[in-house]
Amino acid sequence: MTTYSIALIPGDGIGRDVTAAAWTVLETAARNFGFAVAGTELPWSCRLFKQTGCMMPEDGIETLRGFDAILLGAVGWPAEVPDSVSLHGLLLPIRKAFVQYANIRPHRLLPGVTGPLRAENFDILCIRENTEGEYSGAGGRVHQGTLDEVAVETSIFTRAGVERILRFGFEQARARRGKLASVTKSNAQKYSMVFWDEITRKLAAEYSDVEVTSYHVDALAARMIMAPESLDVVVASNLFGDILTDIGAAIQGGLGYAASANINPDRSAPSMFEPVHGSAPDIAHLGIANPIATIWSGAMMLDHLGEKAAASRVMKAIEATTARGVGTTAGKDTTETITAAIVAAFP
Ligand code: NAD
Ligand code: IPM
Ligand code: MN
Repeated sequence: MTTYSIALIPGDGIGRDVTAAAWTVLETAARNFGFAVAGTELPWSCRLFKQTGCMMPEDGIETLRGFDAILLGAVGWPAEVPDSVSLHGLLLPIRKAFVQYANIRPHRLLPGVTGPLRAENFDILCIRENTEGEYSGAGGRVHQGTLDEVAVETSIFTRAGVERILRFGFEQARARRGKLASVTKSNAQKYSMVFWDEITRKLAAEYSDVEVTSYHVDALAARMIMAPESLDVVVASNLFGDILTDIGAAIQGGLGYAASANINPDRSAPSMFEPVHGSAPDIAHLGIANPIATIWSGAMMLDHLGEKAAASRVMKAIEATTARGVGTTAGKDTTETITAAIVAAFP
């Protein structure tokens, strides 16, 4: 029997609840489809930082490298550890070190979930560049605390980085409805984003079967709300993708439904699966976090591991659950109730 070794990083706040929920569903899927999942829980979090001064041990990345995949809840407890410390000590280094350059985030309404829009039939796949761009971390501050203080943070766009994410977007579009929206702000950012547009045009010649349109990010943000059915695959830089996918989450009913996969397409290192949302300090300890985003991310993990039938069964179980009104209204059902209903939807 195949056993997949999974690193579990619950992290902070509701990350702990939603990871436990997703793990229960993953174990159920494994039992039903004749494979096993072996989870190793790693307590890397703001809590660990408070005890040790580190978000993860020094050899954390090397420890993770040995796993088949990583399931992460959420990182951040801003009341006690600044986000600029916690995220740069755990989540962001993993995405970069493991070259998880494609962050995939699906946005569609699950059955029974009412979104804020009149539009109901949208199905958008956002592909967010995940290793460079505005998140490169190149910058610094001088004359700190004085009136002469300067802060600089430079976006870095490399030909290799832009080309690989656009190529990934074209391939996804080709496998779906054949439409790609490439997102920049090349009317205002005249170097990096013009460069991105140029590479989009160059690749368009290779993918003549894909209908590609370049949009400015402000217009695309409006389009996601006004005409989401007109979009198929959306490819954007790291920061634009971050913002657009919270819009995507909003139009699909909320952050409790937005799944995400940080993929290393070359499979040279493990990929990482996590919900789009954070640790939700405002509802942590209440037991009402919606686990669906993380369970859906778990289905994306099974798909990536090659367990396609199990992945689509998990999606069917989620859909059967929301279709009967469980997990569809914020705060009505507990994390436990939603998880139990999804498990019960397996044959
Ligand atoms: P958040 O996503 O944690 O919460 C935003 C709002 O959405 C809150 O009102 C919250 O209650 C609600 N929400 C989020 N997930 C939910 C769920 N599953 N069910 C029901 N409601 C849910 O964003 P924030 O408040 O800006 O960030 C809190 C912390 O999380 C910060 O430290 C932030 O940096 C971090 N964060 C981490 C990640 C990550 O680890 N991937 C992502 C986003 C934010
Ligand atoms: C996300 C989150 C992270 C990001 C934060 C927590 C650094 O918002 O995964 O969407 O911006 O990538
Ligand atoms: Mn985000």
